Amino acid sequence: MYTDSDISGLLERLYTEKQPPQNLIEYFLESSGEVCRKLFSFADGIREKHVGSEILLRGIVEISNYCRCSCRYCGLNSRSGAARYRLNEKEIIDAVNFLVLKGLKTVVLQSGEDIGRTPEELAQIIKEIKSRHNDIALTLSLGQHSEESYSLWRRAGADRYFMRIETSDKELYEKMHPGMTLETRLKCLEVLKKLGYSVGCGCITGLPGQTISTLAADLLLFRRYNFEMLGIGPFIPNPKTELSSERPGTGELNLKMVALARIGNPNAHIPATTALGSLEKDYRFDALMCGANVIMPNFTPEYGREAYELYPGRRTADPASNDYDFYISSIASLENRFIAYSRGDCTA
Ligand code: 5AD
Repeated sequence: MYTDSDISGLLERLYTEKQPPQNLIEYFLESSGEVCRKLFSFADGIREKHVGSEILLRGIVEISNYCRCSCRYCGLNSRSGAARYRLNEKEIIDAVNFLVLKGLKTVVLQSGEDIGRTPEELAQIIKEIKSRHNDIALTLSLGQHSEESYSLWRRAGADRYFMRIETSDKELYEKMHPGMTLETRLKCLEVLKKLGYSVGCGCITGLPGQTISTLAADLLLFRRYNFEMLGIGPFIPNPKTELSSERPGTGELNLKMVALARIGNPNAHIPATTALGSLEKDYRFDALMCGANVIMPNFTPEYGREAYELYPGRRTADPASNDYDFYISSIASLENRFIAYSRGDCTA
């Protein structure tokens, strides 16, 4: 249906039409060689035009790996037998102090759906962080909770919330997430927007049963919701889960998703995800060259970082110190790109 003779015209359509035909997105998801190279270079140009040459830093602190869910791919699922931990308030504050000392202006508190700490206790921790560091942005990534909890945390000072839909294919979603529905997840994202959070979403690429057309539908959904952040990472089979013998997602397909996400949501902040750095090679720097503009150094204390095993082989450099120095030296070798020591709010 589409031919390789007018790639620039087709890319321009992807950029200018709010909801381009799904099969046009699929055409680029299936591309290789010269067409794929043009896609990457176009996305890189859109990144430069809309969010500039700066690379934003988000420091992650994984505050707990307890989880009530049973997502079939995830090493933290309630049946995986993972050793559990929950950082206490002091450990969280220490980690935040450390990343602030390194110059970072965004902290992401991430955990499984842990109900062992009350919403009020977490609100207290949020208040404490914001009163010590009033110039940083605080992002939560804690899964699905009640509107009351989301509202409490927002009033305590949380600025952003990050929660992926994982897949927009209703059937696949329900297969991968026993007891959960896509509808509820989308409702949560809508509530978060209504409460004034800056909201991030995203998906996994290469899930067993996923197709090119469901991935294209994910991208169309991201456009409709106009998300301010988009995290896209490849599926990596975890030996502790029932999907242990499935094939992992590929770096190439994930990079194409990153490029197409950039073109569809040009102002969004798009990380080069840790999963993308954990395949047979580290694809994070390729992602920064085809649309991504964020990296997320991990500041979880060492004992937690080992137990936070979403998937095996997570590439977080030298756990004894931090990821940060590794990133800084790698980025220094990228041409015309600079680290931004700013909050990096979204202007979408
Ligand atoms: N492979 C890749 N990504 C995974 N996640 C969880 N398990 C895996 C896995 N096996 C991702 C989910 C979740 C994020 C925190 O980690 O997308 O939203």
